[in-house]
Amino acid sequence: MAGEKTFAMLKPGVLQRRIVGEVLSRIERKGLKLIALKMMSIPRDLCEQHYAEHKDRPFFNDLVSYVTSGPVVAMVITGENAIAILRMLCGATRVNEAVPGTIRGDLGLDTQKNVIHASDSAESAAREIGLFFKPSEIQAYEDGNEAWYV
Ligand code: CMP
Repeated sequence: MAGEKTFAMLKPGVLQRRIVGEVLSRIERKGLKLIALKMMSIPRDLCEQHYAEHKDRPFFNDLVSYVTSGPVVAMVITGENAIAILRMLCGATRVNEAVPGTIRGDLGLDTQKNVIHASDSAESAAREIGLFFKPSEIQAYEDGNEAWYV
């Protein structure tokens, strides 16, 4: 399996607003490859572990309440420079800085209820993939696109 692996999570509003396909489509059209995908309701303790680096921030409790308020769509994505490329597709965390053309810039107005989480480094990606997926849930497969997308 060539390329970096990264973790992404579509937050509950994405299912509520029925825009899962819109977001996945942007990720796929870029050339990134889905190698694990599942809809799940996250227990509060898993959510707190996932967002542990923010535990002292004033928005932490509201963030955890939002992300545990309904199902999310968790995924593992691979591709050349997948971590940085996915972060670019997502756009800035603060909605007033997320430019049009990005997922956050096009699809939301609320920073805390933003559409997508994406790992910010190789260390975070490894940690977050390990929190949400067993190794057996990650698929190694060829889709014939390797000449176009690594
Ligand atoms: P995410 O990429 O999931 O990582 C941390 C989350 O905290 C972020 O997206 C936002 O949902 C939320 N967040 C970050 N900064 C703020 C803020 N200033 N106010 C409220 N929520 C925030």
